[in-house]
Amino acid sequence: MGRWQLAGNEADTVSAMRIGVLTGGGDCPGLNAVIRAVVRKGVGVYGHEFVGFQDGWRGPVEADVAPLGVEQVRGILPRGGTILGSSRTNPYKVEGGPERIRATVTNLNLDGLIAIGGEDTLGVAKRLTDDGVPVVGVPKTIDNDLNATDYTFGFDTAVTIAMEAIDRLHTTAESHHRALVVEVMGRHAGWIALHAGMAGGANIILIPERPFDIEQVCAYVERRFETHYAPIIVVAEGATPKEGTMTVREGELDAFGHVRLSGIGVVLEEEIRGRTGRECRATVLGHIQRGGTPTAFDRVLATRFGLHAVDAAHDGDWGNMVALRGTDIVRVPLAEATRELKLVPLERYAEAEVFFG
Ligand code: F6P
Repeated sequence: MGRWQLAGNEADTVSAMRIGVLTGGGDCPGLNAVIRAVVRKGVGVYGHEFVGFQDGWRGPVEADVAPLGVEQVRGILPRGGTILGSSRTNPYKVEGGPERIRATVTNLNLDGLIAIGGEDTLGVAKRLTDDGVPVVGVPKTIDNDLNATDYTFGFDTAVTIAMEAIDRLHTTAESHHRALVVEVMGRHAGWIALHAGMAGGANIILIPERPFDIEQVCAYVERRFETHYAPIIVVAEGATPKEGTMTVREGELDAFGHVRLSGIGVVLEEEIRGRTGRECRATVLGHIQRGGTPTAFDRVLATRFGLHAVDAAHDGDWGNMVALRGTDIVRVPLAEATRELKLVPLERYAEAEVFFG
């Protein structure tokens, strides 16, 4: 593919690369920090050149591309969102999608792509690499449910936002002697609920990995009121009741076949009110958890991921993803990262259960 020579003395010319960058799936704080690190190291250290694809996989499918140089990444480190835009476009669901991406890569003379995304974006990255389009992956998701990495960036920010909300809800719940339900994101995995609930001193935490018993939830609520405190119930949007115990609504599907969630908080509000006779209100944090500036932890993690991703591309180590293992950044095959989701182990949930009720 498109290697070319940097201008200069023929004897000391370096083989430079052209790399396309994209951000796919739900956005999360830290995406811009990754883009900045990729470009700053790629241009400054290696002399490579970058282009930015717009809105995830839609960009290379439609050849929607813009220059991405040091100028474009100035000042973006603390900015939430992504300067490249994002979407949940699945090229394998678009007519001729993978072929169109291959054509874009060839026409733009690219050596490969750096794709920053979660399970869906990186699942596509894996398939494309198998289909002859070289891709390096960077793990992103506020849900922290990507396998093969200890943490994804965006998670710490989401947890911090949810924890601050829980802190605030405690004081107003106490004033009004009411139960408050806080619905946080996490459709398959309850990492945000677990961490934010633990950090915020929630009285009950409900996660998708562990179907809940509404009778037990109400018993915890009553017990909390008896000790003159107002209960805070943190529920992950993907949490479900034990089979046959409560009715829940079904949502529509997106391009990757995921149900669009949100609703369990309000359902719980009604159930708790109906079963205990206590006043109960729900707060749905929704996309607030994905917006705004990243925490210091996420800025550093995202920056390190970006630096190592451009190293991997420079080495031609396509088909891999950068990952955090302990305090080290390593490379792991995309196949390993996308094989299964990283769910909350039940022993981690048991640690939180000590504080229930
Ligand atoms: O995957 C990240 C995530 O924030 C999930 O927690 C949530 O279910 C989903 O994205 C929401 O997606 P959308 O942006 O399409 O509403």
